[in-house]
Amino acid sequence: MGKCRENPRKPKRQNKLLKIAKVEALPKGRGATVQLNDGTEIALFNVDGKFYAIENFCPHKGAPLADSHLHGKIIECEWHGWLFDVSSGKCLTKKECSLETYEVKIEDGWIKILV
Ligand code: FES
Repeated sequence: MGKCRENPRKPKRQNKLLKIAKVEALPKGRGATVQLNDGTEIALFNVDGKFYAIENFCPHKGAPLADSHLHGKIIECEWHGWLFDVSSGKCLTKKECSLETYEVKIEDGWIKILV
């Protein structure tokens, strides 16, 4: 049994609300990569009009998760099929390998992420 891989580029907590994009920019059922100023990344998803943000790194072998297919709230990593719930960050394949989640707020039509 391998261990969960640490994300070397996990966004640092700064207690800052970052303005990301207009709500219309990310259609339902899609994900997008959000690049932060320090080069770290967040994967943002639109699940039926509700937005969720997680670190953009699969703890199996480090695949970016933003382009994974959504099945409801569940994404499947494109590299080897690990499953994650984007709303909780929980890994359904290996429960000790959960993802960091970031709070998303919608204000005046803008998606904002609290990092
Ligand atoms: S990198 Fe192997 S399942 Fe994600």
